[in-house]
Amino acid sequence: MLTPNLTVSSEGHLCIGGADTVSLARTYGTPLYVMDENMIRENCRGYARVIAEEYGGRGLICYASKALSCKELYRIVDSEGLGADVISGGEIYTALQAGMPAEKLVMHGNSKSNAELQMAVSNDIGRIVCDNLPELRRLDQIAGEAGKIVNIMLRIKPGIDAHTHDFVKTGQIDSKFGFAIETGEAMQAVQAVGLCKNLRLVGLHCHIGSQILDTEPFAEAARVMIGFMNQIRDALLITLPELNLGGGPGIRYTEEDDPKPFGEIVRAILSALKNVCAELDYPEPFVLFEPGRSIVGGAGLTLYTVMAKKVIPAVRTYVLTDGGMCDNPRYALYRSRYEALIANKADQPRSENVTIGGKCCESGDLIGEDMPLQAAEEDDILAVLATGAYNYSMASNYNRNPRAEIVMVKDGVARTVVKRETYADIIRNDI
Ligand code: LLP
Repeated sequence: MLTPNLTVSSEGHLCIGGADTVSLARTYGTPLYVMDENMIRENCRGYARVIAEEYGGRGLICYASKALSCKELYRIVDSEGLGADVISGGEIYTALQAGMPAEKLVMHGNSKSNAELQMAVSNDIGRIVCDNLPELRRLDQIAGEAGKIVNIMLRIKPGIDAHTHDFVKTGQIDSKFGFAIETGEAMQAVQAVGLCKNLRLVGLHCHIGSQILDTEPFAEAARVMIGFMNQIRDALLITLPELNLGGGPGIRYTEEDDPKPFGEIVRAILSALKNVCAELDYPEPFVLFEPGRSIVGGAGLTLYTVMAKKVIPAVRTYVLTDGGMCDNPRYALYRSRYEALIANKADQPRSENVTIGGKCCESGDLIGEDMPLQAAEEDDILAVLATGAYNYSMASNYNRNPRAEIVMVKDGVARTVVKRETYADIIRNDI
């Protein structure tokens, strides 16, 4: 099985976190996102444990809520002592509504609106990561009007090629995010903050990409960032106390994937960080990490009902479901691969090779091609695995399909955490 929380019952049904997915599909309907709370919590604890063991607890894990944002997720990560990375007014609003402490939120975005900045300032969001000079000026003014001194970090491009999918690579110079070190703009940005009376620069941030399978790009980013902090100390006599190294550890989507476990990645980062700090005699900073996918990705799966099977002789076999790119756009966007199985035949061999298609009016509405699958029939329940990250959060209402429900399973018992949208929800804002 792809993740340790998946088992097969004596009836041959796929179970997640002790809950039978076939019964879940019958009870809650499909498409259905199912999340395993225990696994999410174990992942939160796994991250915190490494910071405690390797770094004396001098850090904060901020769950990157773009991976999956809903009130219950913020409640869970908050109860595990984590903060959260928020990227929009909508994520800030959801986090605060869920009771997340504002000081544990880190706000991102390369095009934050004034309204979003005002929202962050008036709610005393702990750290705002500034992306560009116009934003710095606007934030300084907004903070001044509110009579506040705002803690900021600067988003820096360390120029690292993390060998990941082009669409999710954000660390190189050719990226819309942040200030590059090698062009001098990063140093200019640090100087520019010095002129902003209402902003306090607490540290630097970088994020080198997502679904990164190896430790070395992360370790290198840590070395580059401390090197740059040391240059800032030399040039401007400023010692920055914090370093935020973003997110990015990859997960297992297919049986061939062999990502380094996130614990190993964080250990390697902290070891590189301690070494470079010792070499440069730079005080070890308070560290922040922003993992998203590695906290929720493997903890979720999506259930569909098989509506039809279409065999095109000598071409391909389509298995058509009641969901698709509306609830999982990742194959359409990135050609991301998944494992699937027939949940009510999980004990049978995956003897066929199929293309899983969705219900949208679009040829590219696929969950994957050339996927091994048990012999599918109408009314079977199809499970697509490791969909906990960037599925619900990237879902759409294309073709006016209501967004699917999310149930959370804990110790075999399920509860709804996001209700299924209704047709009334769909026309809610239509005049
Ligand atoms: N911090 C920052 C500043 C980020 O931009 C991201 C992801 C993260 C943290 C969390 O990265 P993670 O640990 O989840 O890899 N939609 C794409 C992924 C986009 C990621 C964007 N930024 C996908 O479905 O693969």
